[in-house]
Amino acid sequence: MKTILITGAAGWLGGMLRDQLNGWVETLRLSDIGDLGQTRPGEELVPCELGDYDGVMRLVDGVDGIVHLGGQSIEGEFETIVNANLRGCYHIFEAARKHGKPRILFASSNHAIGFHERETRLDGDALHRPDSLYGVSKAFGENLARYYYDKFGVESVSVRIGSCFEKPKDRRMLATWLSPSDFVAMVKAVFEAPRTGATVLYGASANREQWWDNGHAAFLGWKPNDSSEQFRAEVEGATPVPDPEDPAVRYQGGSFAAAGHFEDREPGS
Ligand SMILES: NC(=O)c1ccc[n+]([C@@H]2O[C@H](COP(=O)([O-])OP(=O)(O)OC[C@H]3O[C@@H](n4cnc5c(N)ncnc54)[C@H](O)[C@@H]3O)[C@@H](O)[C@H]2O)c1
Repeated sequence: MKTILITGAAGWLGGMLRDQLNGWVETLRLSDIGDLGQTRPGEELVPCELGDYDGVMRLVDGVDGIVHLGGQSIEGEFETIVNANLRGCYHIFEAARKHGKPRILFASSNHAIGFHERETRLDGDALHRPDSLYGVSKAFGENLARYYYDKFGVESVSVRIGSCFEKPKDRRMLATWLSPSDFVAMVKAVFEAPRTGATVLYGASANREQWWDNGHAAFLGWKPNDSSEQFRAEVEGATPVPDPEDPAVRYQGGSFAAAGHFEDREPGS
């Protein structure tokens, strides 16, 4: 592979991959609506609004793989989500179909399955149970991935990312944490695999609490190396023991499952 496109490259995960994947392929094509800074060796910067059909068609032309991170990354207004996550994701898959069918790693989210209870172990066949409009948009993206593979042969891996940060920020993240280095290894595995079909993959490290089973995706050969256990004492020391009946504890989506409908908030809040 010569060129990999990373959308959302001005964001947290995009910036991390920008650093970690430099030199892995000949060129990283980096895109966002946010500030991408200066071009470094091995990079092309292509600003693009994901809601712009023609712009996304040009963006995808000539790439061999796509890491699609761009979009609204938390709950938000319906219109924002429609543009960035529904329209934007459709544009990415449609552009891939029209431009040589590069494989796509789609950054889905645990919030597509956030209303499953924590004691339920989920595998690749788990039903979507979105916990937010954001989660609904990720379920939509996963279904696009399925459709574009079944009908047009566009391969993809939809990663239901747990919580990919430097370290877990709360008790829930002790279960959902994905270390940045495990994510980097996952990205490489996805693009180095001979085939992927349209696969759903859970993005969590080898944490003590395991809600998700990636047995169906063993063919990828990706195995997480890190564990949140090293942070347990620090996290538990900094946060109160939660009420097990709190919806934020009961459901895998945590506070997203417990929150009210976003559009009901007071104007300006
Ligand atoms: N970080 C995590 O733990 C986590 C967990 C689950 C899912 N994800 C998913 O991974 C992806 C990256 O997450 P992140 O934490 O880096 O989020 P982030 O918010 O830091 O980055 C998202 C980027 O997308 C860009 N963007 C938003 N709307 C856009 C539009 N209309 N056109 C072009 N670019 C647009 C933003 O400018 C931003 O730079 C997101 O899709 C998110 O939903 C992340």
